[in-house]
Amino acid sequence: FKGKQLKISYPGEVAGLDKIYQADEIAGQDSLYKETNRPQIHYTQRRGWNNDPNGLIYYEGEYHLFYQHNPYERDWGNMHWGHAVSKDLVHWEELPLALFPDEHGTMFSGSAVIDYNNTAGFNKGGTPAMVAIYTADSPEKQVQCIAYSLDKGRTWTKYEGNPIIDSKAKWNSHDTRDPKVFWHEPSGKWVLVLNERDGHSIYNSDDLKNWTYESHITGFWECPELFELPVDGDVNNTKWVMYGASGTYMTGTFDGKTFVPESGKHYYSTGTIYAAQTYNNIPASDGRRIQIGWGRISHPGMPFNGTMLLPTVLSLRTTKEGIRLFSEPIKELETLQTLKGQWKDLTAGKANELMQPYNQADCLRIRATLKLSHATSAGLSLYGQNLLDYDMNFNRVNGVFYSPEDMTSMEISVDMILDRTSVEVFVDGGAYSYSMERRPDHANKTGFNFWGNNIEVTNLEVYSLSSIWNK
Ligand code: FRU
Repeated sequence: FKGKQLKISYPGEVAGLDKIYQADEIAGQDSLYKETNRPQIHYTQRRGWNNDPNGLIYYEGEYHLFYQHNPYERDWGNMHWGHAVSKDLVHWEELPLALFPDEHGTMFSGSAVIDYNNTAGFNKGGTPAMVAIYTADSPEKQVQCIAYSLDKGRTWTKYEGNPIIDSKAKWNSHDTRDPKVFWHEPSGKWVLVLNERDGHSIYNSDDLKNWTYESHITGFWECPELFELPVDGDVNNTKWVMYGASGTYMTGTFDGKTFVPESGKHYYSTGTIYAAQTYNNIPASDGRRIQIGWGRISHPGMPFNGTMLLPTVLSLRTTKEGIRLFSEPIKELETLQTLKGQWKDLTAGKANELMQPYNQADCLRIRATLKLSHATSAGLSLYGQNLLDYDMNFNRVNGVFYSPEDMTSMEISVDMILDRTSVEVFVDGGAYSYSMERRPDHANKTGFNFWGNNIEVTNLEVYSLSSIWNK
């Protein structure tokens, strides 16, 4: 996805966008948001390229989704921050571009906070500033900068003292990027986690402008995250989770300055997911840790590319292998679904028969429980492409280590969400998840197919999902 020479662009150039990116309709296609390869339940921007979600923050009834955006082309480059808002994390409205390249470089990934206590002095009257902390990328170096908005993220003012962190010399590295900032109540400080060279560094600040380096942990790459979660829902027993862009995480402790791992590195999600980030400021009454990842999904023939994956809720649960990070689709998604059928105790053959009417469906949610019995491998495919591929000999689901929680009944449950260009699969309540391209052009055109010797489909639920673009 990378590797293209950067063409640095400036705000004025947006007026000159190529016509195809301005037109709302594509010749020969249905209208905006109804194009053949337009995801119907995932957020995509009207035109151009997206990657990483940025600045995920909830403020006054709106979930903000900023993201890496090239407004000029369907390929990576010219990074700006695109912007969309949602009231329910399901339906999104695209707003004008938020951050434009400037003298420090193009706008790389970062995060956002609401400065309720006016620590940075940007607030006006009773309005707290929304502050974005991001990387400016230039061929020479990557530096960290801030900008603030007093109108709910619609317009932004860059801080004149930028950059706030310039650590190229310290690390002798160009790779210093992707600041994730949050308020750490116990120490009364802002905490910033930053990708620096070969790992994640932690900085502290009182005012979002002056930062002190505290610690560094190696072995992570890009888009750091660090947050606290209850274990098994017990708020008196919490762990901290650190992850990087690729879907590996560690659990441990954090005192405001140093993350001390207590686990090995595990995958909670694989496939097309990259650079996930979680929401700051979700109301305490909600209490969920909500994540959005970027899906490296291509959109052939479309003047847009990339997708945001479905928002998920993260939780820590004790499993037979220790404390693990679970990721499940948000419950709000259920507002899109209509039950088409629910069946119990089916043979694979019968289940396949029942699935045939849905082979061509645009958007579907399939919940199934497979009883593996003595099968060594089993799964579900569509057009010959495996949506679920479980191999008992190697304890693997789609190539990645996974051992069902219940080895006695040998049951494995799956929740699969299919959109026009992608499939997201959540195994055993989110113990492991993955995302992949949906490929209707696959050589083997057979429809849904449960496979495996002597397996039983003990539960099967099929739902249709309505488009998020239907207002
Ligand atoms: C991750 C990433 C980030 C960077 C951004 C640039 O996908 O490489 O590290 O900030 O993309 O678009």
